[in-house]
Amino acid sequence: MSLPRADFLTNFEEDQGQGLRTVEDGYRLLDLGNGHPYNIVHQTVDRHVKRGLGSRIALRYLDGSRDESWSFDQLARRTDDWARFYRSRGIGKGERIFVFLPRVPEIYAAILGAIKIGAIVGPLFEGFYEDALRDRLADSGARLLVTSPELVSRVPLRELPDLATVHVIEDLFPSVPNHPYDPEPALSMEPDDGYIIHYTSGSTGKPKGILHAHRAMIQLAITGRWVLDLRPRDVYWCTAHPGWVTGSQYGIFAPWINGTPCLINGGRFDAATWYRYIDTAGVTVWYATPTAFRMLMAAGTQTRSAHSLASLRHLLSVGEPLNPEVISWGLQTFGVRIHDTWWMTETGAQLIVNLPHREIRPGSMGLPLPGIDVEILDADNRPVPTGQSGQLAVKAPWPSLMKTVWNNPEKFLAYFTQVPGLGKFYLSGDTARKDADGYVYFLGRGDDVIVSAGEKVSPFEVESTLVSHPAVAEAGVIGKPDGVRGNIVKAFVVLREGFPAGEELARDIQLYVKTRLSAHAWPRELEIVAALPKTRASGKIMRRVLKAWETGSPIGDATTLDNPERVTLALSPA
Ligand code: WTA
Repeated sequence: MSLPRADFLTNFEEDQGQGLRTVEDGYRLLDLGNGHPYNIVHQTVDRHVKRGLGSRIALRYLDGSRDESWSFDQLARRTDDWARFYRSRGIGKGERIFVFLPRVPEIYAAILGAIKIGAIVGPLFEGFYEDALRDRLADSGARLLVTSPELVSRVPLRELPDLATVHVIEDLFPSVPNHPYDPEPALSMEPDDGYIIHYTSGSTGKPKGILHAHRAMIQLAITGRWVLDLRPRDVYWCTAHPGWVTGSQYGIFAPWINGTPCLINGGRFDAATWYRYIDTAGVTVWYATPTAFRMLMAAGTQTRSAHSLASLRHLLSVGEPLNPEVISWGLQTFGVRIHDTWWMTETGAQLIVNLPHREIRPGSMGLPLPGIDVEILDADNRPVPTGQSGQLAVKAPWPSLMKTVWNNPEKFLAYFTQVPGLGKFYLSGDTARKDADGYVYFLGRGDDVIVSAGEKVSPFEVESTLVSHPAVAEAGVIGKPDGVRGNIVKAFVVLREGFPAGEELARDIQLYVKTRLSAHAWPRELEIVAALPKTRASGKIMRRVLKAWETGSPIGDATTLDNPERVTLALSPA
């Protein structure tokens, strides 16, 4: 496949002449020193207003017939209103404020206002329910929650003693003040002070609170400039909700630090609507997931041909493997290449990327950012020879690397290893290989974490919610390969005595998880079986065997297992 490079002179190429060469040089893009507060919100919002660029559009919100724009000036005013409100509620530096709202302009101001006063903000995905909310709000010791009348009913308030204030906003679309602007200065922080916490799923235990520090601004500035290739005249669209790390780091900070207007889409995915948004807003740079691209692909050429899409100049992808078929579809459909990027909640920003001036090797995630060293390690944490597979590891630190895992310093330390002769490395948990030129190829997860539609799902969390259903005795959860979503969550359950297996019960259990845990993590397929495969010695449920059941691959040695045979009693309706 011929993949011609971008036909524009990229920011990266321009910067080479200016001496900006590595991630660390990102600090030169920022207002640091000279009395400017060290706070990511100063860089994201106030800097533009102070330079007289406040009348530029910061965001344009489209949902159905609603079409609203905020300038940087208006964003600054709303942000400051929130900052004053939080201060009036006695929230201080380092305390946790959570924001649980749908994707409306107000969520951005509520998040930025919290960070501005030195608090740590926890944005929550609007699809979360009771179980997911309890874990996150309790573990973080959240003091204040901002939410909506519709979402507040999902929050188990009585089980959250630390939560002193629940602020329900009745009007999700307040009018934006235009009174003379009296800026509320951002609190000046230390580079290592926390600003945002994102909970992420592992294969065991509860979700981990990944805390990021203000120093991340350096890497967000440089990757916004080099990888997204953002300029002030672009219109940028990141399709993720700010409850996910992509929706915060690349839906708020990276674009706005670079002064670029953002399209904010309300509502759910719909191919025709999404194409229309691109034309209406004149989107030039677009960051989405392979699943979103595959859903557009499935919607067909007729839906596409009703739209111009001529504004698009630069496309990027994140979160799951970008298959070569999607790259060729992208080339045909939009006339440009889709640039893969790899990073994780823990890494805080992109690390392996396809810069727009470089050759793309389909199937590869690209090359490490300049200034970032990547190694592939064997089981003893020694580098493997070129071309061989192993664990993807990154030399630590880099500016956006997480500061810690909240309440769990042991988990934080377990992410790192000393590689003899090379220093300290961050262990990603992903399996990958490198070719002779350093291009990195993703091979899979090294653990049981499921990546579905670009979001990580912990089998443990889904199993915990499943077994709280009155009819479920035991549950085992795996990822099942899926042509559109990469993987879907598949559950195998064993019923308690007295509950007859049937399609209806299967559907009921699915719905239970959907409305208890999260709209993204529920099992799209659920199978009621007579028994689950377990190790005879420890009684541990063997997800490996469940995977073999599903994919038809051999189970391997079954002599140490109980119930290696699959006996299906009922399957959820398709
Ligand atoms: C996966 C999302 C293949 C990977 C920013 C990683 C990818 C996990 C890619 C992190 C990619 C992310 N190709 N797989 N380009 N990008 N992943 O924490 O398994 O939600 O470890 O961060 O997604 O997911 P997380």
